[in-house]
Amino acid sequence: MSLFLVGYMGSGKSSIGKRLANRLEFDFIDMDNELEDYAQAKIEDIFSQSGEDSFRMLENRILNKLIARNDHLVIATGGGVPCHSENMTKITEHGFTLYLDLSPSKVARRIEMSNRKNPGKRPLVKDKSGEELLAYVTDHLIVRKPFYEQADMVVNADKINSAKLDEIKEAYLRWNH
Ligand code: S3P
Repeated sequence: MSLFLVGYMGSGKSSIGKRLANRLEFDFIDMDNELEDYAQAKIEDIFSQSGEDSFRMLENRILNKLIARNDHLVIATGGGVPCHSENMTKITEHGFTLYLDLSPSKVARRIEMSNRKNPGKRPLVKDKSGEELLAYVTDHLIVRKPFYEQADMVVNADKINSAKLDEIKEAYLRWNH
């Protein structure tokens, strides 16, 4: 069974996912990259040319494909995946889910830094900064948290050291027993 990382944009799903995959000796998959390869288009272009609904349909398709692989993978989901369709139920039925929890202010700070380096990478927040970004993230997290919190395990995304990676690995192995 696979291990799914869920959490808001900027919570570190890809970087922590890679470290976890290393520990577990599993392949790592980033759903955003997988989707861009499949669609042969950048996420920002899919949003601007076809709209968010089309993007969410593509996400569902990629999720179904990954589940059908029935493999041992570490999968970083896009921040919206668990919050649309019946995806969170599907994910928890087919894998171990880990929620990377991070406060709105830390999330906003990380998004702001990433927006500066790579403007347009995250279409939902690309034009937002400062107070406006913090207000958006705070409100959005209120809507999304109930989905993320259905995960099998919740960790503080800011405190993932080597001991925490071992703890997550142990929890996964117990769950998969
Ligand atoms: C989104 C998160 C992004 C990406 C898209 C939409 C979201 O992924 O899938 O911009 O709705 O939260 P990350 O969580 O990897 O940034």
